[in-house]
Amino acid sequence: MTRVAIIGAGPCGLGALRAFAAARDGGEKIPEVVCFEKQSDWGGLWNYTWQTGMDGQGESVHGSMYRYLWSNGPKECLEFADYSFEEHFGKPIPSFPPRPVLADYITGRAEKSNVRNWVKFSTTVRDVVWSQNSKQFIVTTENLKSNERVTEWFDYVIVSTGHFSVPNVPDFEGIDTFAGRVMHAHDFREAREFTGKDVLIVGASYSAEDIGLQVHKYGAKSVTMCYRTGAMGFKWPDTVDERPLLTRVDNSTVHFKDGTSKDFDAIILCTGYLHSFPFLEDNLKLRTHNRLYPPKLYKGVAWQDNPKLMYLGMQDQFYTFSMFDAQAWWARDVTMGKISLPAAGDRAKDIDAWVAREEKLEDDHAMIDFQADYVRDLCAVVDYPKFDIDLTVAEFNEWEHDKVENIMTYRNKAFKSPVTGNMAPVHHTPWLEAMDDSKETFLDTKS
Ligand SMILES: Cc1cc2nc3c(=O)[nH]c(=O)nc-3n(C[C@H](O)[C@H](O)[C@H](O)COP(=O)(O)OP(=O)(O)OC[C@H]3O[C@@H](n4cnc5c(N)ncnc54)[C@H](O)[C@@H]3O)c2cc1C
Ligand SMILES: NC(=O)c1ccc[n+]([C@@H]2O[C@H](COP(=O)([O-])OP(=O)(O)OC[C@H]3O[C@@H](n4cnc5c(N)ncnc54)[C@H](OP(=O)(O)O)[C@@H]3O)[C@@H](O)[C@H]2O)c1
Repeated sequence: MTRVAIIGAGPCGLGALRAFAAARDGGEKIPEVVCFEKQSDWGGLWNYTWQTGMDGQGESVHGSMYRYLWSNGPKECLEFADYSFEEHFGKPIPSFPPRPVLADYITGRAEKSNVRNWVKFSTTVRDVVWSQNSKQFIVTTENLKSNERVTEWFDYVIVSTGHFSVPNVPDFEGIDTFAGRVMHAHDFREAREFTGKDVLIVGASYSAEDIGLQVHKYGAKSVTMCYRTGAMGFKWPDTVDERPLLTRVDNSTVHFKDGTSKDFDAIILCTGYLHSFPFLEDNLKLRTHNRLYPPKLYKGVAWQDNPKLMYLGMQDQFYTFSMFDAQAWWARDVTMGKISLPAAGDRAKDIDAWVAREEKLEDDHAMIDFQADYVRDLCAVVDYPKFDIDLTVAEFNEWEHDKVENIMTYRNKAFKSPVTGNMAPVHHTPWLEAMDDSKETFLDTKS
């Protein structure tokens, strides 16, 4: 019997489990599936932890999410096509939920799929090597509770370990003399730590924008964000500003490229993450920065040098859960022989065409179109339920427009579901005033 290992039970790994469950429930003969998850529960980044650094079992903490995190895109643009928000919550809900609500949605679908017994929790994958003799992967795992190591053979390996957990930590002259707290976004958990403080954020992407505004929301005295390539350029509140990159740090004072300087209490490096696969042998490792079409992945999934190894969710992401599902359905069909791969040369041509197109993209709108086309390409060959991809493109564009218009209010808008066609209600409290991120408060079910 074909054996498939799935590494990681975050949204991508859960998408893969769901894909196999759908085939099983449809009466198809499916491979033996074993999912290894190093945390004690599923959900990946959405499984919030207060811990930073090491997790108490000698493993580095996977979580990069923080308290009071709200979705930064409309939930309609990530909705599962086979399990709508309305089906999960029993009613339409507002478009920008906080983390506990999205975590409930993701894990709710997983619970209903009857796949928990396919997952080995608290089990880290230590080593994956390809055996040329048996044409199988030799996978070594460690049970973190018993420290027992086990080696098994698999015909396919699906890597779904995420790529927003290993921080990219640049060095800056004099930063070792800084008098306050220096941390990476990966270790950020609680905005109230910065109430009344002058905070410097390094970086100009989603983490910078979101953590910068969050510490502002929870009472930071001032927030300065500094950029390497270009400013975000939103209309910030009075106590928030953007400057070119810092050049050096001297005790509490930070100097910037434009010749200005300012004293700070804390520096938060929102400088992104590294793709890291310490468990894979070298010639199986994807090496890429955060981009929409990492090279050497056929259909964004199958490792060109050995397509029995597949990666899910390794792209930079406008689309998330629905794209992960489309990839998972595609990967499942490869393992079940329903999709046969072309020869290496033809795969390379396909990869090169996508990469060349990606390299010409000039703005966010073009990137959204590109990723939507990628999702369409996958959906065209699998039986993932249809959803209105054109609507999600229009909604992403509207969302971009809303952010430019007012970065402080874009989360108060409502969007239409591409799955049910129903409009979301407007949330009862504007995001800036919503200090409680609990599911009960968001859904207004507190008694
Ligand atoms: C701060 C932050 C906020 C975000 N907010 C949003 C948002 O609002 N909306 C959105 O759609 N997306 C958001 N994202 C994007 C996020 O990447 C996806 O939502 C999603 O979590 C990716 O799923 P994944 O399964 O690829 O990876 P992850 O969620 O990272 O899950 C990977 C899993 O693999 C496990 N694992 C890792 N290594 C091993 C190993 N060696 N052995 C066994 N298990 C292992 C981990 O424990 C984890 O459970 C956010 C990301 C970050 C960092
Ligand atoms: N609420 C939310 O939903 C939420 C919140 C936070 C994050 N996220 C998600 O988390 C993911 C990761 O976002 P991210 O912002 O952490 O990573 P990212 O999008 O990869 O951006 C990394 C940023 O770091 C900068 N950078 C990298 N190296 C640098 C250096 N040496 N000096 C100065 N700047 C440097 C980059 O600058 P250049 O532009 O110059 O390369 C870029 O601005 C995204 O998918 C995002 O959607 C979501």
